[in-house]
Amino acid sequence: MKIDRLHPPPQLDNLSRHGLHTYFREGWELEEQLFASVDPGALNRQPDPLRHPLIFYYGHSAAFFINKLRMAGLRPRGLDDHLDTLLARGVDPATRDDLTTFAWPSKTQVSNYRANVYTIVSELINALDLPQGPVDAGNPLWALLMALEHQRIHFETSSVLIRQLPTACVAKPDMWDYASCDRSPAVEPRWLEYAPKTVTVGRPAALAQYYWDNEVGSLRVDVDRFFVRSTLVTNAEFLEFWRAGGYHRREFWSDRGWAWRSRHEVTHPRFWVDCEPAAATASRPRYRAMFDTLALPPHWPVEVNAHEAWAYCAYIGNRTRLPSEAEYMRITATAPLTAGDCIDHHGYNLNLRYASARAVGAASSCTTPEGLADPFGNVWQWLVDDFYPLPGFTPHPYYRDFSAPYFDRDHAMLKGGSWASTGTSASRWYRLWFRHHFYQHAGFRLASSATPEG
Ligand SMILES: [Fe+2]
Repeated sequence: MKIDRLHPPPQLDNLSRHGLHTYFREGWELEEQLFASVDPGALNRQPDPLRHPLIFYYGHSAAFFINKLRMAGLRPRGLDDHLDTLLARGVDPATRDDLTTFAWPSKTQVSNYRANVYTIVSELINALDLPQGPVDAGNPLWALLMALEHQRIHFETSSVLIRQLPTACVAKPDMWDYASCDRSPAVEPRWLEYAPKTVTVGRPAALAQYYWDNEVGSLRVDVDRFFVRSTLVTNAEFLEFWRAGGYHRREFWSDRGWAWRSRHEVTHPRFWVDCEPAAATASRPRYRAMFDTLALPPHWPVEVNAHEAWAYCAYIGNRTRLPSEAEYMRITATAPLTAGDCIDHHGYNLNLRYASARAVGAASSCTTPEGLADPFGNVWQWLVDDFYPLPGFTPHPYYRDFSAPYFDRDHAMLKGGSWASTGTSASRWYRLWFRHHFYQHAGFRLASSATPEG
């Protein structure tokens, strides 16, 4: 699947029926393709014990359309009282014990439900009274735009769950191509220095695409001099930490990270496989791509959770840490963009350019003038900040618990998008958050306030 097959989000100042149909159909078909890659017998599996079984996610975005359109008055009633409710809410438990189990519907039931929702939304778009002027967050149409973006968010998170199934349960769709495993980075890993500067965090109000409540606002931050690594940390670099026994050395881990690592007996990144014998040997782990197991691609970014990223920073030492959100906005300010907020047509590994990560810095077209590779795309980038509200934050009435429940010390931020990010997720303004132990197609780059060694 190539970037020119995917469409940018609808423009708020120029909504068209054709554009809405195209964007809706595209997001829907992506989700269908993804779930068609899974053996139907595996849809009741729970690849992540802290998430519902896959069948929930197959139906969830469809239920979201119905529930939000109804809330906005764009639809007078629900579709199926039982499924509208059962499929309405995802979960974010701290531990397995907090997860409730339900009697889940069959694939046939969910497929039928989805087909009905598809027809309902298509007919709704046909019948919409489109406004002459720009649509804002107070317009009932916001519910439709919200549901379109929500589906794309779940496309990506479902892909992460499916990536955790055994390979025998999945089959790569024909048009989903992995990047080359062999290609070397196009840029030399080095430390980049950034002078002090005041930056603004938060999305300008004038931009013309859908936005989530937590993106709006303007926070001025005085960013001190700092250094950041030009490339994301690669599998080859993380292999040194692993071979040094990093997963067994308490001194590298935060208290919470060590507790997580110990409780789950984690000894390697989630998407490394065949990691035995032990780390001290010269063995080379293999790599779990989206649908297959490959030789570990040394130049692709490593994918880890926040605990593991911080442990690697401690291993590197010299006060090395993850970048802050303000620093991230500083280093990406000069990245190539289209029309200020749209990240396409620059070679970024977003929008399913590949069905995988690719070598860090592989495309010079999306390296900043300062030499920062992969400012966006490839894999999400963990930040040092926990998720926090921008000044004036107001939850959207159609989705009050989208962001607000997660402003805490348990959810860390990520920026930049991954190869699986589409729609407004593939935007410089999108702010993502997950529990520190959670897996996404996510990696990290190093930052430091101290002059780096070497
Ligand atoms: Fe959801």
